[in-house]
Amino acid sequence: MLSSQKIAANKTLDSLQILRPDDWHAHFREGDMMRLALPYTARVFARAIAMPNLLVPLTDAAACSRYRAALVETAQSAGPDAGFEPLMTLYLTDETTPAMIAAAKPDAGVYREVFGAKLYPKGATTGAEHGVKDADRLYPAFEEMQKRRLPLLVHGEAADAEVDFYDREKAFIEKTLAPLRDRFPELKIVLEHITTREAVAFVRAHDNVGATITPHHLLYNRNALFDGGLRPHRHCLPPAQRERDREALVEAATGGDSRFFAGTDSAPHPLESKHCDHGCAGVFNAPAALETYAEVFERAGALDRLEAFTSVHGAAFYGVRKNRGSVQLIKQPWRVPEMLTVGETRVVPFRAGETAAWKAS
Ligand code: NCD
Ligand code: ZN
Repeated sequence: MLSSQKIAANKTLDSLQILRPDDWHAHFREGDMMRLALPYTARVFARAIAMPNLLVPLTDAAACSRYRAALVETAQSAGPDAGFEPLMTLYLTDETTPAMIAAAKPDAGVYREVFGAKLYPKGATTGAEHGVKDADRLYPAFEEMQKRRLPLLVHGEAADAEVDFYDREKAFIEKTLAPLRDRFPELKIVLEHITTREAVAFVRAHDNVGATITPHHLLYNRNALFDGGLRPHRHCLPPAQRERDREALVEAATGGDSRFFAGTDSAPHPLESKHCDHGCAGVFNAPAALETYAEVFERAGALDRLEAFTSVHGAAFYGVRKNRGSVQLIKQPWRVPEMLTVGETRVVPFRAGETAAWKAS
């Protein structure tokens, strides 16, 4: 492993070995799409939190177990990544009871089958139709989660129609997250895929709050969505924000603060669901996610902190061991494919047709 001093001294670094990373937020879908998407994640990440927003959401422990088995089988049949470990999340709805939390997490140990529970404000994003209308009414479930040490992962967007789209994260923090944080101080909360300066500031100011940051929010500001015409494959929720917000995210990710860690939010959609009216939100970045993190860290002069962000901070926050083994990153420009296909399913990946500066192996 290269020490920070060596990296700092070597300005023309063209290869880097890091501890095998984790993806603390990813969507793997089902069927053909799972077969297409999962190998790109398992190729470099040892573990990944699998999001529960399937067509039939994973609202109880049994559904999480079944989905976990499908993910493990798909990873194994894809080849050399047999060691890949999916971590399961329970989808919270208005009907989630403390008993359902207890069934998902029978004791207060780190985790068994279910690793965390995910709060989607109802209607806030893809697959959030079954989400929570009023988080206040779920306080008994949060109480149980706090008691059993089951982390709460939140999609931080207020979905009320009157809130401006670009203010949704801020509104969620003020109206929902801040009171929740105060009421359950021991509950570990992860604010997922943060996009704003306000989110960075909130995380820094509160104990037991962490945040994932995606490659696309580190690379793009909101202009990217309109760059040369409407770019549906860059559309995700929460949306990219202003340049000053992107800069705050880069500073948070590269600055060494252990509350910020990698979570790609890789979210594949079939081409037809993107090239249409009411196109879906979600960026399929798994094919170039680690590589893009490396590019962003290099530009920020912080390659020596990449490993902490991708492979150390998240494990520490969740209280699990770091991975064994390593991944090699080489400065070797390569062209991201225009399109990926499995069966009838076609997906346009993040940075399709563009040149990525680093390659992981
Ligand atoms: C995700 C998806 O497609 O499942 N989409 C997205 O834009 N990020 C859902 C989510 O995490 O919001
Ligand atoms: Zn997501």
